[in-house]
Amino acid sequence: MRTVALVPAAGKGTRLGGALPKAFMALGGRPLLSWAVAGLRDSGVIDHIIVVAPADRLAEAQEIAGPRASVVAGGAERADSVRAGLAALEGAHHVLVHDAARALTPPSVIVRVAEALWSGEDAVIPVLPVTDTVKTIDEHGYVAGTPARATLRAVQTPQGFRVPVLRAAHAAALAADDLTDDAMACERHGVPVRTVPGDPLAFKITTPLDLRLAESLVAARADPRA
Ligand code: C5P
Repeated sequence: MRTVALVPAAGKGTRLGGALPKAFMALGGRPLLSWAVAGLRDSGVIDHIIVVAPADRLAEAQEIAGPRASVVAGGAERADSVRAGLAALEGAHHVLVHDAARALTPPSVIVRVAEALWSGEDAVIPVLPVTDTVKTIDEHGYVAGTPARATLRAVQTPQGFRVPVLRAAHAAALAADDLTDDAMACERHGVPVRTVPGDPLAFKITTPLDLRLAESLVAARADPRA
């Protein structure tokens, strides 16, 4: 039963405002991608890693990812990058799609997702309760509604899937340009998606504030996940 991790790392990272693509920006002197790959390896549940990198950084990504990893070129949108990674998957039963930007994800989260998959789930995502009240708004900026907070969850990665399930869901969602995660493709395809507890440390480094938070966590403790 091979479990493979697919790491989308082909984003530009414009919201972070750096000169480099986000996955290649430094955190504690190491690229974000290096942290994400280390967490996957430390989990002990991953047999192989496929990194999806910008087309002009394939060699650099391979060097960062190290052995038992391969690298493929990504696409314009995150879903295109995931599809490129899926096309390179051979012989795997399960795939964990894990954003390079969630660099400090504790290995325990990765283990929880893998174990739920191995127990027979088709799709598994790590989630956290939401602390803010969340509103939907209309196109004029007025509030349209307030979903009950108790029913809301913030979603992290890795998101785990049985390989044929994710392949079929992404193929069916080819025309969609609004996919913000992979579970969404499964939901639309009628696949039940199981939730497991996430971890605050699995936050996505998206803005300069996120990077400062990650830097301070790393400065306080060499490996905040240990
Ligand atoms: O843009 P966002 O923060 O949602 O990106 C999440 C992850 O997806 C990042 O690790 C980013 O590098 C990756 N990505 C990608 N290909 C894209 C866009 C984003 O691999 N075209």
